[in-house]
Amino acid sequence: MIGLRVEGLAHVYSAGAVRALDGVDLEIGPGELMALVGQNGSGKSTLVRHLNGLLRPTEGRVWVDGVDAAGRTVAQLARLVGSVFQDPDRQIFAGSVRAEVEFGPRNLGLTGTQLRAAVAEALAAVGLDGQEDANPFDLGDTRRKLLTLASVLAMGTPVLVLDEPTTGQDARGMGLVRAVIAAAHAAGKTIIAVSHDMNFVAGDFDRIVVLGAGRVILDGAPEEVFAEEQWPLLASTFLEPPLAARVGARLGLGSTPTDGALIRALADRGQQLDGNGAKPPYQPT
Ligand SMILES: Nc1ncnc2c1ncn2[C@@H]1O[C@H](COP(=O)(O)OP(=O)(O)OP(=O)(O)O)[C@@H](O)[C@H]1O
Ligand SMILES: [Mg+2]
Repeated sequence: MIGLRVEGLAHVYSAGAVRALDGVDLEIGPGELMALVGQNGSGKSTLVRHLNGLLRPTEGRVWVDGVDAAGRTVAQLARLVGSVFQDPDRQIFAGSVRAEVEFGPRNLGLTGTQLRAAVAEALAAVGLDGQEDANPFDLGDTRRKLLTLASVLAMGTPVLVLDEPTTGQDARGMGLVRAVIAAAHAAGKTIIAVSHDMNFVAGDFDRIVVLGAGRVILDGAPEEVFAEEQWPLLASTFLEPPLAARVGARLGLGSTPTDGALIRALADRGQQLDGNGAKPPYQPT
């Protein structure tokens, strides 16, 4: 298990002189399950691109496993930090699904049955088994994204950085991504995921870091970040707490009620109102 630390990190893109990160301090412990949220352009992708050396700090430092990332090449960092980019088209380069997923583990020295097993396991995890010979560009956006996730999983890195892994996914894709994250967390990996889905981050992550204009503006457990007293700050940066947090607060259940607690409280309230109770909740098959 390895940790990461970001110290006084600032990043100015030379093209537009945009100060995309403006002094970020963050310690991510070994095995942490952390989500990074914030409005469009707040610097989330810029921040996570520093964790694998694709971007280098304008100011400040990034430490990976206790070592200054400045002294490591992108190839060295790739053994520790596996990154799924926000845009899969910037990541995919091979002509087949198999070749795409094989590339990383082959570079790490895997061959033969070991390589085949790593590829098969990663493709099965994202539901792309059986598609080995497909051309990635025929898959469609959401499955291309799942393919990039498989490529990173196949490398077996101790850190996973996932930039918007669930965007555009249907319930099946969403379920696969959630299962991949849960399994990786259970295996002791350190996970950092960028997301705009407040339900997802509230339900599946232990810690939420909120970026606003290149700075950390909130950092805590979901129940702290989505607590009612933070709603004005969240609103100022165009973030909306999950519906469950808003209903939970009204029902006195706190800001991260479980589905069960919410359904029971609403059913009780329904019975008080009309004696009928609530209808059973929607259950995907
Ligand atoms: N390659 C680049 N050159 C110049 N400016 C950039 C570049 N990439 C990002 N920026 C700018 O840096 C700021 C932060 O962008 P970034 O992509 O990190 O935000 P984000 O939080 O990931 O946004 P989104 O939610 O839209 O993905 C924005 O103002 C953006 O326009
Ligand atoms: Mg982004």
